[in-house]
Amino acid sequence: MTFPQAPLIATAQALMAPGKGLLAMDESVSTCNRRLSEVGIAQTEESRRRYRELLVTAPGLSEAISGAILFDATLQQKTGDGVPFVDVLRAAGIVVGIKVDAGAKALAGHAAEHVTEGLDGLRERLARYASLGARFAKWRAVLTIGDGLPSRACMLVNAHALARYAALCQEAQLVPIVEPEVLMDGGHSLARCSDVTTEVLHQVFEQLHRQEVALEGMVLKPNMVLPGLACELPASVDEVAEATLNCLRRAVPAAVAGIAFLSGGQPAALATARLNAMHQQASLPWPLTFSFGRALQQPALGLWAGSDSNRVAAQSALLHRARCNGAAARGAWRP
Ligand code: 13P
Repeated sequence: MTFPQAPLIATAQALMAPGKGLLAMDESVSTCNRRLSEVGIAQTEESRRRYRELLVTAPGLSEAISGAILFDATLQQKTGDGVPFVDVLRAAGIVVGIKVDAGAKALAGHAAEHVTEGLDGLRERLARYASLGARFAKWRAVLTIGDGLPSRACMLVNAHALARYAALCQEAQLVPIVEPEVLMDGGHSLARCSDVTTEVLHQVFEQLHRQEVALEGMVLKPNMVLPGLACELPASVDEVAEATLNCLRRAVPAAVAGIAFLSGGQPAALATARLNAMHQQASLPWPLTFSFGRALQQPALGLWAGSDSNRVAAQSALLHRARCNGAAARGAWRP
């Protein structure tokens, strides 16, 4: 590594501030439209902007949110009063992040599997994002559990791309959020999710090591270890916490600046309870927090329903989930 590490480490530590976590609000246009349409809101650029304005201007957001992950278009959007979202967030003390991958595309020769693309031109895009105020970035790989899946090829190419992205980010002085998501879809057991997640993480950290990524200047964003959505054997909150921590302890070096979970479609309160339960266990080698999208936003989006008259209620719902998760990140959440 030939670039300075101290600023990266400082940013990563700011993201991992005790009792705080990340707000993922980086849905692509199509995903954001799908979420809006599910609650009956018009799928327009102005709806997306108004919704994101509601999120970034929620009073008190920084009590429990250290960083916000934006989507490309959102990075340059402004409030109705003309203030850039980036300035609103920075004034509140929230670090600005940006999703930089170009999405999961079909993996050649492997039906039903995907590789995340977006490396072409990434160095130039990262420089632009840094000049616009971003201090960290996110890249998400997706892995599906199934009969013989994920394939070795799928794990390898995604781990390799995550490490190439992470090295480019550090070169540009952006902290990389490295997100290998093992999806909840399927009838697999908790034990199978544990095996797959452990193997995926081993592959990711091998590539990060080979490509000389500074672990102290990156954040891991993994899935929790969960039974598949169609699995008939439920797992308790404590079983999920134990399985997740066992997996992470085996696969994630203690030097990593922190771990911030995705929610992956878990019910919002359950994601909070599971994070909280992990903090009831013996001391952890890394800061452990949340980087939720749906589990922070869903109640707020439903309440907003596209109407300004619901704005305050929606912002309160967002803050409530943020505070609950902030408490869970300290093991202090009570139902
Ligand atoms: P969810 O918490 O909704 O899974 O979103 C997190 C995220 O950033 C996915 O890339």
